[in-house]
Amino acid sequence: MSIAIIVHGGAWAIPDNEVAPHRNGCRNARNAGWDILAAGGSAMDAVEAAVRILEDDPTYDAGVGSVLNRGGFVELDAAVMDGDQLLYGSVAGVRRVRNPISLARHVLNSPAGMLVAEGAEQFAVKRGIKLCDPEDLIVDREFAIYQDLVRTYDESKDTGATPPPGERNAAIQAGGWPAPSMDRPGDTVGCVAIDSNGWVVAGTSTGGTGHKLVGRVGDAPLLGGGLYAMNELGGCSTTGWGESIMRILLAKTAVDYLADDCHPQIAADRAIQRLADRGKGTAGCILLDRHGRLGWAFNTPRMAHAWRTADGRDGDGV
Ligand code: GLY
Repeated sequence: MSIAIIVHGGAWAIPDNEVAPHRNGCRNARNAGWDILAAGGSAMDAVEAAVRILEDDPTYDAGVGSVLNRGGFVELDAAVMDGDQLLYGSVAGVRRVRNPISLARHVLNSPAGMLVAEGAEQFAVKRGIKLCDPEDLIVDREFAIYQDLVRTYDESKDTGATPPPGERNAAIQAGGWPAPSMDRPGDTVGCVAIDSNGWVVAGTSTGGTGHKLVGRVGDAPLLGGGLYAMNELGGCSTTGWGESIMRILLAKTAVDYLADDCHPQIAADRAIQRLADRGKGTAGCILLDRHGRLGWAFNTPRMAHAWRTADGRDGDGV
């Protein structure tokens, strides 16, 4: 079996001055996951290790450095899926866990599939995960953005989406759909890997969309939306505007397109086209098939990503 790994660090209008840290963080995560795969380790260990690095990197909207919601605090969502047994673990709305991907893995190894909020945190404690202070997840950059939004936000013009209508991307507005601004961080992170046993695993972790409603849960922890994995086909992790990703179950759609050994690049392109056409959305996806071939696509200005395959090739991009 051919080992391979691909990671992403968000799809949005990543500013020029943030390109280098986005690229470096994705490379670090890719390298950590690859080292595990190359040593004969499991795709599950590789995905967890890679996503933890991205969660710990304040560059991204996952773990430390996540966006603040309208209550002024961070709520995290994450999930991991095992493409062999189709087991999954998912957490949503957690406020005191630095690495929700690891908590999601614990949920995968439990009678539950998904745990939310306080219940998820209580479960974390039972599994020996030390809870953090919610303030530990907040960085100055995000606090400043939050303060700015509090100052400028006009709730009376809000049609239900985040963030403020005045900042929504003009192109999306033209399509008639309320969407988050492309200029706001949307650095959901994720990883898909295949190990030497042909085991495919996908993982995704996020702080969600900036200025989101308290309690809002996006696509990232939802099976088929933010991630999907099935050994017979491959695996996918997504990033972008969650409400649109959920409409077409982007990750499951992309994995389904791998049928008949369709190349993952073709499948990724088709999935993002479907998201644009049918979901009127903006997002990116990373995709890997059962042969260890890779593909990725996005209809946002940029998507941070990095990859490596068994034939010695690697790459990255923002
Ligand atoms: N894609 C992450 C979110 O919308 O929450």
